[in-house]
Amino acid sequence: MKPVLVIFATHYGQSLRIANHIALALRAKDLKPDIVDSTQMSPGFSLDNYSAVILIAPVERGRHQKNIIKFITQSRKHLEQVPTAFISVSLSQAGAEDASATPERRARCARDVAQLIQTFLGETSWRPVRVMPVAGALAYTKYSWLLRLVMKWIAKRSGASTDTSQDHEYTNWIAIGQFVDEFAREIAVSSRSPAAIAVTALPQGTTPEHATAAPTEGVRTVAVPAAEVKKRGQLPIEQPGEKKAAAV
Ligand SMILES: Cc1cc2nc3c(=O)[nH]c(=O)nc-3n(C[C@H](O)[C@H](O)[C@H](O)COP(=O)(O)O)c2cc1C
Repeated sequence: MKPVLVIFATHYGQSLRIANHIALALRAKDLKPDIVDSTQMSPGFSLDNYSAVILIAPVERGRHQKNIIKFITQSRKHLEQVPTAFISVSLSQAGAEDASATPERRARCARDVAQLIQTFLGETSWRPVRVMPVAGALAYTKYSWLLRLVMKWIAKRSGASTDTSQDHEYTNWIAIGQFVDEFAREIAVSSRSPAAIAVTALPQGTTPEHATAAPTEGVRTVAVPAAEVKKRGQLPIEQPGEKKAAAV
């Protein structure tokens, strides 16, 4: 089977760490990952050489990084031919997963995440089979003094640490491993029958109207049939905390 492309953008390294973790998990599934920095694509680069694509992009100043948006708009047709997944890395997601936060704050952070992702997908017109918001990190020790101040303010809003003397990581590595397990199953299915990708992504017995899959707390994958996504034009972003907040 062709390798799986793991393409990322990063500024402070957390998305690269996530890419490396995904690559390890893919290898454990006997899949061959190829990690590519979206800012350093070789001239001969072609998506034809890949059986699936996982794209990782961090949020900065309310948007996903621009060079990854450029990559998608240039490659959209190819991206429609294979199973694809989008991993959105942000601090807002750390807020959405923060068990010590109030339900209102978690719900607000979850809404921010959903909005960021919908905007990104709208800008690119890309419809990945899976979307996973992932909590990123605060790399205070790598920021300039001014950025440290700004990030401290953003952190306060998301309920993240304001201790600027050290870095803080919020990424749920176990959830990422589970996400890779599920995506690896989709790759296997699509390699046997490309048309079956999206349908087998649905949990048994679900319909597109309630087709969000969260096998365990902390996993934020979403599966929707491709035809349905095209019809509705957007993906639901699963946030279990949001449901809890509404019920309280
Ligand atoms: C300058 C800057 C702006 C950021 N803006 C946002 C933001 O608007 N919303 C958010 O949820 N996270 C924001 N973050 C948090 C990043 O998404 C998080 O730190 C992520 O881990 C960065 O990924 P990277 O290390 O791969 O660059 C920002 C981070 C930086 C450094």
